[in-house]
Amino acid sequence: MSHLFIAYGPDDLDALLRVHETLRQASVPTWYSPKNSDADASSPVVLDAIDDAFGMVVLVSASSMGSKAVKAQLQRAIDRNLTLFPVRVDNGRLSKLFKSALADKLTDGIDEEGALTRLVGQVRQRYQKRCPVIAVMNLKGGVGKTTVSAQVFGAWQAALGGRTLLVDLDPQYNLTQTFFSMNVADAFSEQDRSVISLFERSQLHAKDLSSPAENWSRIRVDPFPPANQEQICHSLLTSGGPAGRLDLISGQFEISKYAFAPNPESLAAVGANFRRMIDFYRSNYDLIVFDTNPNATFLTRCALEAADRVLVPMHTDMYSLRGVRLLHQVITDQVSAAVRPDLSVLFNAVSRSEQSDFEADARNGAFDKAAGFKLSQTLMTHALPKSAHLNVRSPEPDSSPWQQLLIHKGRGGGLRSIRETLTSVAQELRDLVEG
Ligand SMILES: Nc1ncnc2c1ncn2[C@@H]1O[C@H](COP(=O)(O)OP(=O)(O)OP(=O)(O)O)[C@@H](O)[C@H]1O
Ligand SMILES: [Mg+2]
Repeated sequence: MSHLFIAYGPDDLDALLRVHETLRQASVPTWYSPKNSDADASSPVVLDAIDDAFGMVVLVSASSMGSKAVKAQLQRAIDRNLTLFPVRVDNGRLSKLFKSALADKLTDGIDEEGALTRLVGQVRQRYQKRCPVIAVMNLKGGVGKTTVSAQVFGAWQAALGGRTLLVDLDPQYNLTQTFFSMNVADAFSEQDRSVISLFERSQLHAKDLSSPAENWSRIRVDPFPPANQEQICHSLLTSGGPAGRLDLISGQFEISKYAFAPNPESLAAVGANFRRMIDFYRSNYDLIVFDTNPNATFLTRCALEAADRVLVPMHTDMYSLRGVRLLHQVITDQVSAAVRPDLSVLFNAVSRSEQSDFEADARNGAFDKAAGFKLSQTLMTHALPKSAHLNVRSPEPDSSPWQQLLIHKGRGGGLRSIRETLTSVAQELRDLVEG
């Protein structure tokens, strides 16, 4: 579980201790820089602690507003879209940065009655918040699940902010190969720095353990703690790249082993391990996305049971429609109503000419019967066009993972319009998720 960062000025030590002690008693983990000198402003340890935080308490005082370190910390938090919790320590006049970032949230002085209790309440609410989980799924192959997982959610992170985690749940691991070369992806899985460590105890949990990927006939069912986040969540926004947090849990072929599990009990246990791990990450990220395989397997069940919403990319053709119908049937028959995710269907690779009839008919309800449910009511307003830009190639050897994301590419040759569409899809989805 990540921590709450406390930013404070050199003269705020009394206030720091009071806030820290109150949060400690409320079992909220905190982190603050012990020295807090100006040199800390760019110290990697401090910057990493901000990147890993779920929020930042900012002690607002003449001292903190005059501190270079606090200014840099606050700016970093703003860039990372962290939730900010300001606490007024004295009546110093707000500086420009503090005013723009904090003025609308600044209600309490630290000495006002109940101020620290209110702070704990707000922090707890944020700390226990479980972020949305979206599974990108269609039981038809090649409809753009992986493309949507990378490009729409890359755009979500860039345009709407928040910390996003992509999980490659497809044994073909194409999403991972979108960002990393095959060699890098395979090196991750050799060390279990990959999706299998969400299902079974692995080398990430004990150095002397063999990899669960090596033995297909044995499944380790015992529960385990979450792996060290730095080991398993690979950052796609590498240094020198765009701001924010967009991570990937790398995929691998070996999770196919669950298709050959010797008994249902072991699968149930491994599925529960997976759900517990995702639950854990739900407090550390603002959005979790699964890219999934195109056939109904144990992995499909895991994804459906952990997700709040299924995003279904489909082409404007009858084969895709069949995939959507089967998926809807699987969800209704196999997932209990209490955890059943909502469905949103996104037209992908729509070409100008064919868009006309099929898309218009679908929106008018002409295919509701063939789909077996009210498809027309689940269709997203925005659609992704067929575009060579969305046909993303493998990464160049020396490129950074984020360079694969269209949202971070230039504007020429129609890129601008694709970026706007990706952002519109992300915005529409966010509105749906936030309901
Ligand atoms: N809107 C688009 N315009 C042009 N090409 C696209 C578009 N969307 C996807 N593609 C291309 O279509 C192919 C299939 O897409 P993708 O791999 O995302 O599908 P998928 O549903 O994940 O496939 P699978 O079922 O194998 O996992 C890829 O080559 C991809 O680059
Ligand atoms: Mg795919």
